[in-house]
Amino acid sequence: MAEDEKITEACRLLEEAKNVVVFTGAGISAESGIPTFRGKDGMWEKYRAEDLATPYAFENDPKKVWEWYDWRRQKIQEGGPNPAHLTIAKMEKNFPNFSVITQNVDGLHRKAGSKNIIELHGNIWRVRCLEEQKIFEFLEVPLSEIPPKCKCGSLIRPDVVWFGEAMPQKEISQAFLLSEECDSMLVVGTSVLVQPAASLPFSAKTNGASIIEINLAATPVSSIANVSIFGKAGEILPEIFQRLEQCLSDGM
Ligand code: APR
Repeated sequence: MAEDEKITEACRLLEEAKNVVVFTGAGISAESGIPTFRGKDGMWEKYRAEDLATPYAFENDPKKVWEWYDWRRQKIQEGGPNPAHLTIAKMEKNFPNFSVITQNVDGLHRKAGSKNIIELHGNIWRVRCLEEQKIFEFLEVPLSEIPPKCKCGSLIRPDVVWFGEAMPQKEISQAFLLSEECDSMLVVGTSVLVQPAASLPFSAKTNGASIIEINLAATPVSSIANVSIFGKAGEILPEIFQRLEQCLSDGM
């Protein structure tokens, strides 16, 4: 199927849908200038995840871990939401039920205006005090002190899920429930490799949902996708939305 026909097919599938889930990964933020983890120029090609994104890394060298997060927070603030995030925010009003389930911690879906968001891996703009265990928003960019401290004087850590840590149970249960109940799932910018999030599209498919994949290259989801559209999310999603709006207004 040519890319153009794939976009038409994606519109057809979405037109039939009432409950839509958009499942996103780092690739949706790539056009905001934020590096992905895997693939060309991926962060895990340059750094060892074990040195930056584990509780042990933080215990051994909180300064190094926070330098990495400070750099990522600056990249996110510089880039901001891109047309992919903005389009997903606009799509919400076209469906009775529309949710975003993201593996990203950058907060760009909310910044773009999306309302129903499940953050599976936490949020880089929230921190947790290691002493008091309280969680609070921490927006300072760039950091004036590294590693930053809580008012109580204790170290604070990013409120994100590191390798070897449990996922937030409420969010993961909600995510599987939404995936099982949706009519259509858009899978955007994820390598679909990290469990349990990577099981969500398969759970949706098993329960009868259509799967629309948007990625630069094939992933494990491509084998079950109704349509895999290869290209940049920031270009493909606006194209789908424009056609969808056209179909919906024609159908009025
Ligand atoms: N448009 C669409 N897809 C893109 C774009 C783009 N502009 N740029 C990159 N991609 C795709 C890549 O082809 C790849 O499949 O986005 C995907 C990014 O994959 P990863 O870097 O593995 O990111 P993700 O799938 O979110 O990783 C999952 O792994 O390291 C952990 O906690 C981290 O949440 C992350 C999890």
